[in-house]
Amino acid sequence: MKRQVPDPRELLDLIQFKKPELNARNRRLQSALTIEDLRRIAKRRTPKAAFDYTEGAAEGEISLARARQAFTDVEFHPSILHDVSEVDTSTTVFGGPSAMPFGIAPTGFTRLMQSEGEVAGAGAAGAAGIPFTLSTLGTTTIEGVKAANPTGRNWFQLYVMRKREISYGLVERAAAAGFDTLMFTVDTPIAGARLRDKRNGFSIPPQLTASTILDAIPRPWWWFDFLTTQKLEFASLTETGGTVGELLDYAMDPSIDYDDLATIRAMWPGKLVVKGVQNVPDAKRLTDLGVDGIVLSNHGGRQLDRAPIPFHLLPAVVKEVGHHTEVALDTGIMNGADVVASIALGAKFTLVGRAYLYGLMAGGRQGVDRAIAILSEQVSRTMRLLEVGSVAELTPAHVTQLQRLVPRAVPHP
Ligand code: GLV
Repeated sequence: MKRQVPDPRELLDLIQFKKPELNARNRRLQSALTIEDLRRIAKRRTPKAAFDYTEGAAEGEISLARARQAFTDVEFHPSILHDVSEVDTSTTVFGGPSAMPFGIAPTGFTRLMQSEGEVAGAGAAGAAGIPFTLSTLGTTTIEGVKAANPTGRNWFQLYVMRKREISYGLVERAAAAGFDTLMFTVDTPIAGARLRDKRNGFSIPPQLTASTILDAIPRPWWWFDFLTTQKLEFASLTETGGTVGELLDYAMDPSIDYDDLATIRAMWPGKLVVKGVQNVPDAKRLTDLGVDGIVLSNHGGRQLDRAPIPFHLLPAVVKEVGHHTEVALDTGIMNGADVVASIALGAKFTLVGRAYLYGLMAGGRQGVDRAIAILSEQVSRTMRLLEVGSVAELTPAHVTQLQRLVPRAVPHP
C-alpha cells in the first residue's frame, strides 16, 4: 500500500468543533436519544422514594414486565415503493384532534417527582398538540392545568371516592374548565401492593428521615425545588400522610358499580371513557351502554399483578367492539414503535405515563418536551419505514405479535 504524508489542510477539514451547549439541563436532555436514556438521568436526579413510586408496579411487577415484553415481541411488516416523503401522524380521538396517536396518561402525585409537575406536562402536551390527562390524585388543580394548557385538550381522570361529593365536585369543575373527556377509572377497588413504596417508607408529603436525608445528599436540586416552590396542591385530596396505597384505600370506594357509571354519565356533558377494562365481555357491556370509549389498561401493572396484557387483549376487543366505540390502550409504552404497533392492531389512541414522567424527572418542562419529541420521532420514523403515509393506513397486516406466553391447553375430562 502506498502511503503519503498527511496534508495539514486536509486534517483541518476533518476537525469539527461543535458549539458547546452551555446550559447543563439542555446538554443533559440533548444527550438522551431514548426514553430509557431519560430514565437513567431521572434516576440520578430524583429521590429514591419518588423515583420508585413512579417506576414501580405491584407485587412482583410481573404485569408490567410482561406488557413491556409484549411490545418487544412485535414483528413489523413493511411494504415497499410507497412515497413517504411526507408522513401525517395526526389522528382524532374522543371527538377531537391529536397531532400524535398518543397522549399523556393520568398520574398521581406528579409534583413529587419534579416540582413543575402537571404544569410541565400540560404545557408540553398543549405545545405538541396532544391531549393531557389530569389525575384525581394530581398535585395541580383543574384550574391550574387549564391555565397551563389553555387552548389544548385537557382530560380529567376520575376516581369515584367514598366521599361521593368530592368526586362529583371534580366532575363539575372539570366541565366548567372546558375539559372535554372524562376518564372514569375502574380498576382500583383497593390499592395494589406497591412493595417499593412500603420498603422505602414513601409517604405524602415526604418525611425527612435519616435515610431520606442521606438519599438527598447527591440530589440537592430536587430538595431545593421542593422546598422553594409552591406547596403541593392536590386536585382533590384532602387527606395526606401515609403511603400512596394507604391513601388510595382510604379514599377509594370498593363498592362502586354500574349505577355509579350511570350517575357519572348523567352528570358529564363531554365524552365519557372507562379506563381499566381487561376483558372482552366488559368491553362489550360498556359499549352496549353507550360509552364513548374504553381504555385497555392494567394501570401500568400497579394494581392486580399477573393481569392480562392490554396489548394482547387489543385485537379481540377491537374485533368485538371496535366498530361501535373507540379503544385506547396504555401500560408499558416506552417507544413510539409500541404506539405504532398498537394503532396498527386497531387501537384508536394510546397513553404514556412513565415515559412522560421520566422526561419530567430528567428536566422539568424541557424534559417532557424531550420525551414527547423522542416518542414523536419514533412514531414518525417507524411509520415511514413501514412505508405508510398516515395513521389510517396502519393495519393489522403491519404487525405480528410473536408468541411467548401461551395458555396451557385445558385437559378435557
Ligand atoms: C395512582 O393512581 C397510582 O397508580 O399510583
